[in-house]
Amino acid sequence: MAGGAYSLMTGEFRKRFGAAEGLRVFRAPGRVNLIGEHTDYNLGFVLPVALDLATCIAAAPSTDGKLRIYSEDRGEMCEWPVCELPRLERARHWSDYPIGVAHQLMEAGFAIAPANLLVRSRVPEGSGLSSSAALEVSSALAFLHGRSIAPLNLARLCQRAEIEFVGMPCGIMDQYISIFGREHSAVEIDCRSLEHRDVRLPAGITFLAVNSMVKHALAGSAYRERVAECAAAVEQIQPHLAGVTSLRDVSPSQFESLQHLLPEVIKRRARHVITEIARVGAFVAASERADLAHMGALMVESHRSLQHDYEVSCSELDFLVDRALRIQGVFGSRMTGGGFGGCTVTMLRPESVPVFQQEIAEAYASQFGVTPAIYQCHPSAGAGEVNNFETIPAPD
Ligand code: GLA
Repeated sequence: MAGGAYSLMTGEFRKRFGAAEGLRVFRAPGRVNLIGEHTDYNLGFVLPVALDLATCIAAAPSTDGKLRIYSEDRGEMCEWPVCELPRLERARHWSDYPIGVAHQLMEAGFAIAPANLLVRSRVPEGSGLSSSAALEVSSALAFLHGRSIAPLNLARLCQRAEIEFVGMPCGIMDQYISIFGREHSAVEIDCRSLEHRDVRLPAGITFLAVNSMVKHALAGSAYRERVAECAAAVEQIQPHLAGVTSLRDVSPSQFESLQHLLPEVIKRRARHVITEIARVGAFVAASERADLAHMGALMVESHRSLQHDYEVSCSELDFLVDRALRIQGVFGSRMTGGGFGGCTVTMLRPESVPVFQQEIAEAYASQFGVTPAIYQCHPSAGAGEVNNFETIPAPD
């Protein structure tokens, strides 16, 4: 099926750009985070899975000195003479992601060659499933066109593109999982050491992402505010606890004994981060002993903490979580990603999926007047080149 889509993509590429000499296709997945939200920029742990929803870029060298990027979803073509790339500035446009990546690659010593790129994404935008990182990573691979780079450097470079060029002070989770995703596994990432391990999920459960179809405007500014509040918490804890450089360094029991020293809002932000980091470890342990009830309970605790302490949820996400928890066969549910809209992730029995889909869709539509999109979360491989895409026949 996927191969068929790629071979259709080459037809589209020829239609758009003419010749397709040297064409290669690169893919980078979106993600759903199972637990560990807003912990990455606090150097804690996260537990995402890479999805089979991915961004693909077909790329071929061009001969006229230009870089052209066509976004199929937007029906929009951008073009620049390659010699002007270093001078480009943020345009508050989707092309900021690939251009930011091009800048980082140039800084790392990789020349950007004239090329034509066709972008096709199946990661729904604004869904909190990390369409930005999927675009960054697939763009980087398309620009590299087979030149090698250490995967961790690639993840950091794409994260820097988002921080420095796009202006979003994100953590490393999204870019990391898009590169290190693993089929059939979740990936526990230590955002301080930047090491990871694959976590096999127990049999008899499945994860669904439910898209609230909203993205509230304050998402970006609130994210920056939370990053700053966490830095403030560290600063205020430092005089009382030696060696603290991030909230990762504060254990839940240390927090208990010094929380009275913090102003109310900062205290709640820090409490979310510190307890959430602990929940990742507890969830992985519960997963390893197939304690489904405990995994579900931890997801709900995570959501409540994001809702009340970190205050990054919204009425649509709270509704989806609360409604999901009333459906037979559901173990747990929580918002996933940055918040203020986007998706929830729900853990449930596979046989409950049809009833769940129907009930949640009807309930959400009657409350908010929109039908939510629902995605099965199949843990998939990380980014890479799509080989042999031309030999696979197109679907009927
Ligand atoms: C966004 C950011 C990530 C992470 C999540 C919240 O997706 O890009 O780095 O901080 O929000 O967990």
